Amino acid sequence: MSKLRASVVGASGYAGGDLLRLLLFHPNVEIAQVTSESNLGKSITKVHPNLRKVTDLKFTSMHELEECDLIFLCLPHGTAMNSIDKFKALAPKIIDLSADFRLGDPALYEKWYGETHSRTDILSEFVYGIPELHREEMRTANYISSAGCNATASILGLYPLYKNGLVELDRTVIEVKVGSSEAGNKSTASSHHPIKSGSVRSYQPVQHRHSAEIVQELSFGKEMQVHFSATSIDMVRGVLATCHVFMKDDFDEKDIWKIYRKEYADEPFIRIVKEREGNYRFPEPKLLAGTNYCDIGFQKDEFSNRLVVISAIDNLMKGAAGQALQAFNIMNGFEETMGLEFPGIHPI
Ligand SMILES: NC(=O)c1ccc[n+]([C@@H]2O[C@H](COP(=O)([O-])OP(=O)(O)OC[C@H]3O[C@@H](n4cnc5c(N)ncnc54)[C@H](OP(=O)(O)O)[C@@H]3O)[C@@H](O)[C@H]2O)c1
Repeated sequence: MSKLRASVVGASGYAGGDLLRLLLFHPNVEIAQVTSESNLGKSITKVHPNLRKVTDLKFTSMHELEECDLIFLCLPHGTAMNSIDKFKALAPKIIDLSADFRLGDPALYEKWYGETHSRTDILSEFVYGIPELHREEMRTANYISSAGCNATASILGLYPLYKNGLVELDRTVIEVKVGSSEAGNKSTASSHHPIKSGSVRSYQPVQHRHSAEIVQELSFGKEMQVHFSATSIDMVRGVLATCHVFMKDDFDEKDIWKIYRKEYADEPFIRIVKEREGNYRFPEPKLLAGTNYCDIGFQKDEFSNRLVVISAIDNLMKGAAGQALQAFNIMNGFEETMGLEFPGIHPI
C-alpha cells in the first residue's frame, strides 16, 4: 500500500511537534511538508531536538504548501478559518487542532472567543474530534475538528454518566489542573521561570472557553450547565480533571463501575483506574506523559449524592496530537491504534 502524504501546518509549535514525533513512525504516512513562518528553511530538529537523527525535514512557508492527501492544522485559533479554502483546495482531508470548527453553533464561538466566526457556512462539515463519541461519523468524514485538551479530559470522564441520564444537570463542578505546555511555545511574562516555577495559578476560575465544548457534547439535547475552573500548576505536560457530579438518585459505587466498564470496555485508549491502595489509586497525568491514554477513576462521597470523577490525559497527546492521529487512522480506515501503541515511562 502506498503511504498517505500528510503535511503539518504550524509544525514548529508544541502540538505540531508531538504530531511530527508520531507521524515519523507511522507505517502508512509520509510527511510531505511542515510549515513555520518564523523558522523558514531551518531543520525541524532546531526546534524539536528530540527528533535528531530521525528526520532531515526542513520548514517551509504555509504559502508554499503543495497538494497532498491530508493536512493537519496546528495554528492558533482564528488562523485556520481564514485560510480554510486554500487548505481545502490542496487536500481532500483536513484535521484542525484549533478551536475554529469545534462549536457547531456560531453564536457560541462569538460568545466564548469574543470574535465573529468568519466561516459559519462550513461549520457543519467538521466532525468533533473525540473518537470515543464520534467514531462512526469520522469513518466517512473529510474534515475533523480536534477537541480541546481540558474538554477532552472532562468529556471522557463524564460521558458515561451524562449519556445514561444519571446526574443533576446544573450542579457539575469541574476543576482542571494543567501543565504549562497547554499555553504553546511562546514565552510570556507569566511563563518566566522565576515566576512560574513552584506556582499554583488559578488562571481561569470562571468562563473557560472549553465549557462550551463540554456542554455541546454532554447535553444530549437537554438544558445543562457545567461550572468549570482551571488552575495552572508546575508541570509541563498533563491535565487532571476533578469532576464533582451530583447523582439524581442514591447509588452504589459498584453500579458506577458497571456503567464505565460497559461504555469503555472496548476503547483502546481508556483505562479505568481505581485501586484500593498504593500511590496510584487514581489517575495521575505524570504516568501518561507522551501517551494517548485517558485514565479515569471515581469515588463516591458516602455523606452525599456526590461522585468525584478523576480524569487524566497528556494535553499534547490525547488532548492534541495523539487524538488527532487516532482520528486520522479512523478516517482513513487504518487500525485505530496505529502509531500510538506504546505505554508511558515510569518512573519519570
Ligand atoms: N498546547 C496544547 O496543549 C494544545 C492542546 C489541544 C489543542 N491545541 C491547539 O493547537 C493549536 C496549536 O497549539 P500549540 O500549543 O502547538 O501552539 P504553539 O506552540 O504556539 O504553536 C503555534 C504554531 O502556529 C504557527 N503560527 C502562529 N501564528 C501563525 C500565523 N499567523 N500564520 C501561520 N502560522 C502561525 C507557529 O509557527 P511560527 O510562529 O513558527 O510561524 C507555530 O508553529 C492551537 O490552536 C491550540 O489551541 C493545543
